Amino acid sequence: MTLRRALLSLAVLCAGTGLSAQTIDPLAPTGAWSANQVGSAQLPPMGWNSWNAFFTEIDEEKLLGSAQRILDTGLAKKGYRFINIDDGWWLKRRTGDGKLIIRADKFPSAWMKRGDPSFRPLTDKLHAMGFKAGIYSDLGRNSCSQAYSDGPAQLPEGTMAEREVGLYGHSDQDIRLFFADWGFDAIKVDGCGIRAFTADAERVRSGQYRALAALIDQHSVTRSNVPAVKALFADINRSLARYNPDGDYMLSLCIWGSANVRSWGKDVGSISRTSDDISPDWGRMLTNYDSAVRRAFYAHPGSWNDPDMLFIGKGDFDVNHLTEARSHFALWAMMNAPLLIGADLRTTPQPLLDVFGNAALIAVNQDPAGNQATLAFDSDGLQILVKTLANGDKAVALFNRGLAPVDAVLTADHLKFRADRAVTLSNLWTGAKSDFTKETKFRIAPRETVVFRASGTRMLADGLYLSEQPGAVNPAADGVVQPEPDPTIYRSIPGWRGTRGIGERPMYAGWGGAMADATPYNQALTVAGRTYGAGIGILANSRLEVRNAGFVRFSAQVGVDDSALDGEQTVRFYLYGDGKPLASSAPLRRGATAQPLEADVKGIAVLELVARADGARGNAVPVTWGDAALRR
Ligand code: GLA
Repeated sequence: MTLRRALLSLAVLCAGTGLSAQTIDPLAPTGAWSANQVGSAQLPPMGWNSWNAFFTEIDEEKLLGSAQRILDTGLAKKGYRFINIDDGWWLKRRTGDGKLIIRADKFPSAWMKRGDPSFRPLTDKLHAMGFKAGIYSDLGRNSCSQAYSDGPAQLPEGTMAEREVGLYGHSDQDIRLFFADWGFDAIKVDGCGIRAFTADAERVRSGQYRALAALIDQHSVTRSNVPAVKALFADINRSLARYNPDGDYMLSLCIWGSANVRSWGKDVGSISRTSDDISPDWGRMLTNYDSAVRRAFYAHPGSWNDPDMLFIGKGDFDVNHLTEARSHFALWAMMNAPLLIGADLRTTPQPLLDVFGNAALIAVNQDPAGNQATLAFDSDGLQILVKTLANGDKAVALFNRGLAPVDAVLTADHLKFRADRAVTLSNLWTGAKSDFTKETKFRIAPRETVVFRASGTRMLADGLYLSEQPGAVNPAADGVVQPEPDPTIYRSIPGWRGTRGIGERPMYAGWGGAMADATPYNQALTVAGRTYGAGIGILANSRLEVRNAGFVRFSAQVGVDDSALDGEQTVRFYLYGDGKPLASSAPLRRGATAQPLEADVKGIAVLELVARADGARGNAVPVTWGDAALRR
C-alpha cells in the first residue's frame, strides 16, 4: 500500500472518531512543540516532601518544622520552594457530597470555627513564608499506603466508601478543593489505586477495599492499559487548567516508570517518575538513577524526568556516608531531577545541610538552558556525565559506581572542547581550580562523584550539536512501536520486598528510545563505517521537534546506522521548518554513505527531523543524525 492510500484508509477508519488522518500520522510535521510546557516547573522543582522522612505519619508540626529550617538555614534563598504533603493527610471522603475530610487531629490549623476542616490556613502560612504548597492524591479510589502500609497509622478511616479517598470518579471535585478552595500549588498523583486493588488482592478479598480492575501492571506494558491511564491524566489536566487560570501549578506523575510513561510523561506533567520508589541504599539509588540517566531527550523545561525524591539523611546517605550523600545529590543535580529533600530537617546534621546547600550544584540543576546531562563515557564502573550550560560552559561529573577506586581520564573530547586549547576546571565540591589540555587524570574514590564546571574552546566553533541541547529536542515520535524493557537499569534488591519472589527483572519500557551520541541501543553512532562522536540515535519512523534559539543553519550527516539488523530497509530523512519542508534525502539503507542534510533555518522557531521507513517491513531500524547541529 502506498503511504497516501494508507493515510486515506486511516482517514476512513477515523471518520467516526472525530480524529483526522493528519493527527493520526505521528510523522506529519506540525510546526509546534508538543511536550508539556504549562505549569510552574520551567526549571526542575526544588523543595521538601514528607514521605521519605515520615511516611504516612506526617503532621503540621513536622511539616512546618522542616519548612522553618529551610528558611533559617538559608536553603529557601537557594531555591527550595515547594513544601509538599505526601500520603497520610486524609481522614475520609464524606458520603453524600463526596467531600474529602482532612485528618485535622494531625493538622490543627485545619479546624474551622464553622464548617469542614480546611488546609487554607496552612497554605496561607506557607505562602506567607515564601513557599509553594503541594498535596498528594491517587488516580484510583485508594492510595498506596492503603495497599501497602503494615500498620494502621494515619490511613483513612470509616466505611469502605468513606475510605475511598482517591481521585477516581471525583477528580474535578477534588482538584477544585485542592487548588481553588485550599490554595495548593502542586499535586503529586500516585497510581496504586489503579494497580493494587484487583479482585484477587488480599485486602480486597478480605473485604477491606472495593475491587478496581487494574489499568497498570508494573511488570508488563502489554498488560497495562496505556490509553486509559493517559485519559485519567487528561481529565486531571483539564481540571488543573480550570482551577488555576494563572497556570501556576505543578503536576507530578507518580506511576513509577510503568505503562511506558518514561516515553510519554513529558507530554502530560511537570515531572514524571521513571522508576519505583527510592530507598536509602546505594543499589536502589543506582536503579533510580539508571532509570533517568539515558532519557535526556525526554526531559525539557516544563516536563522533567523524576528519579524520585532525595533520600539524603538516612541509611547509605546519612551523615556517616558523605561520599554517597554527595554523589546522590550531584547526580540528581546533573540529571535535572527535582531536588526534593526527604529528610526531617529539624534533626539533619550540618554536613548534610551543606550538601543540600551547595550553590554551585544547585546552579547546575537550575541552569536556564534546561539540558539534562548526557553520558560522554559509559561503563558499569565509571560514568562521565556532561551537561551543557546556558553560557556554553559544561558541568561534568565523574561518577564511580563501584567499590574500587578508578583512575579516570577526562578528555577535552568528552566535553566537545578542542584538545589543543586549555580547558579550565572548577571543582564544585572544593572550589579548587585547575586546567589541562587534551586530557587529565583523576583518582575517583569508591562511590565518589567529582563534579566540575568546565570552560574551553568549543569543537564546533559556530554552534551547538543537538545532542548538547536535549532540553530543546523532543522525540515527539521515537519510532518505538513495541515497547521493550530497558536492560541497562541496575537491578537492586528492593528494600520493601527483600529477596522474596523472583527478583528484579528488566521492567521499565523505553529501550530503543532516542539517545544522545549513541544509537537507541547504546552503541556508537556509525554510518557506513564512519563513527560520529556527536549526534542523535533514534529508530526510523520518528519525528524530533527541535526548538531553534536564534540559530541560522542546520546541518547533519544522515543515514541508516550500521547496527541495523535489516540491511534492506530504506529510510528517507526529512527536515521541516515551522511545518514546511526544507530538505530531504534519497532513500538510504544500511551501508550507504551518510548524506548531508542542510538548510537555512533563520527565523524558524521549530524544526522537525523526520526519518521515515519506506513500505512496511516492520523491523525497527536505528538511524543516525550524525553531527546534527544548529549553527550561527
Ligand atoms: C508510592 C509513591 C511514593 C509515596 C507513597 C505514599 O509508593 O511512589 O513516592 O508517595 O506511594 O504511599
